[in-house]
Amino acid sequence: MSVQTSQNTPKRLFIKTYGCQMNVYDSERMRDVLRPLGYQPVDTAENADLVVLNTCHIREKATEKVYSELGQIKKMKEAAGGKMTVAVAGCVAQAEGAEIMRRQPAVDLVLGPQAYHKLPEMVARASRAVGERLETEFETLEKFDALPKAREADGPSAFLSVQEGCDKFCTFCVVPYTRGAELSRPVDAIVAEARSLASQGVREITLLGQNVNAWHGAPPEIEGGNEWSLGQLARHLSKIGGIERIRYTTSHPRDMDDDLIAAHGDTPELMPFLHLPVQSGSNRILKAMNRDHTAESYLDSLRRIREARPDIALASDFIVGFPGESDQDFEDTMNLVREVGYAIAYSFKYSPRPGTPAADMFGHVPEEVKDERLQRLQALLREQQGEFNASKIGETIPVLVTGKGRNPGQMHGRSPWMQAIHFDAPDHLIGQIVDVKVVGATLNSLTGEYATAVEAA
Ligand code: 5AD
Ligand code: SF4
Repeated sequence: MSVQTSQNTPKRLFIKTYGCQMNVYDSERMRDVLRPLGYQPVDTAENADLVVLNTCHIREKATEKVYSELGQIKKMKEAAGGKMTVAVAGCVAQAEGAEIMRRQPAVDLVLGPQAYHKLPEMVARASRAVGERLETEFETLEKFDALPKAREADGPSAFLSVQEGCDKFCTFCVVPYTRGAELSRPVDAIVAEARSLASQGVREITLLGQNVNAWHGAPPEIEGGNEWSLGQLARHLSKIGGIERIRYTTSHPRDMDDDLIAAHGDTPELMPFLHLPVQSGSNRILKAMNRDHTAESYLDSLRRIREARPDIALASDFIVGFPGESDQDFEDTMNLVREVGYAIAYSFKYSPRPGTPAADMFGHVPEEVKDERLQRLQALLREQQGEFNASKIGETIPVLVTGKGRNPGQMHGRSPWMQAIHFDAPDHLIGQIVDVKVVGATLNSLTGEYATAVEAA
């Protein structure tokens, strides 16, 4: 990983340590976890961007001493025009909890002992609350942070951005630090853009967001009623003339609500393809990842989605070799994959992102073990992908014709299940949904015969 050198505005971090050796150690760890977020230690609280008091409870009047110190810091914060984040850590924080913030409103964060690894998350949340984003040591075009951008329609299929940001703080992931908090675009703006895309010939829209199924919004006035979820938005967009297919990506299992699941059953325009990353099949690892779902709750969501839309094709992301992942944890992942049967999936070896809690965890898995696990997982996923594609052979399916293929007379298109398909057909069909008979399948695509041509023969 190349480290960004544009740390031209390092943030000043002042940590004051009270008490025991344990606190001295914790303060060092706090400096370590904050360094990748651009924080450089300084030796005075004055003009610091972040002040941490790492407190101790042992001596008498310790608490009062902390409050009197906070009184001084409050003045400095005021002098800095409020541009200072104040955190209280350690035993006094544990004993007093939120009471500290009530008694001294200049305090932004309170974290107990052993919570130093939560500091990046808390600092990110606090700086986002005042509209800032953290500059991190990651490349700006970080692979895991990249989403296709909404763009002008240049064919019958287009992306439409509906949501941004992430509040999930999975412990391996950098996105919550580099992007803002979860934010939903209003219904009116989305509908206007969808209409404009439809008028440019777009037939398929993919609703885009870092956590797209966390989207929610106030319904248009004439529709009234409760707040909409993504399911209701999809139903609404499906009524726009010309919009024949709706997709969305990427989703979090936690936000797969009943209404969105129901929409898969009652809205034929909602395509039978769902990218719902699970990351791991082991509950122990899911917990360490801060995923907020278990293997069982994930499988239960899939069961309900399949009930609503039996032909749904499922996709996922996986991370192998997360810190602490044992052979058994990995086997749990393999078993989950066998149970689900994916149409396609993306899998990665865990790689530490400085500043994220997992980078700091114990039990990093040796590279060769990660390699071996990744190979086994990918072999299984490839097998499932091949089987899924082959299962369509012999079926006549509705294909959105997306453009000309490589060979003369050849066109390419997309199946309802996101498969690429090649077939011979006239150019004027671009932008239409036509019936194509699937006659062949490889790992990555299908081949077909345009059905009218088949009938004419
Ligand atoms: N290491 C490996 N894979 C990661 N991903 C995100 N962060 C990491 C990391 N530190 C993967 C997740 C996510 C996908 C976009 O990238 O699987 O779903
Ligand atoms: Fe990253 Fe996705 Fe987790 Fe958000 S939900 S922290 S984007 S992996």
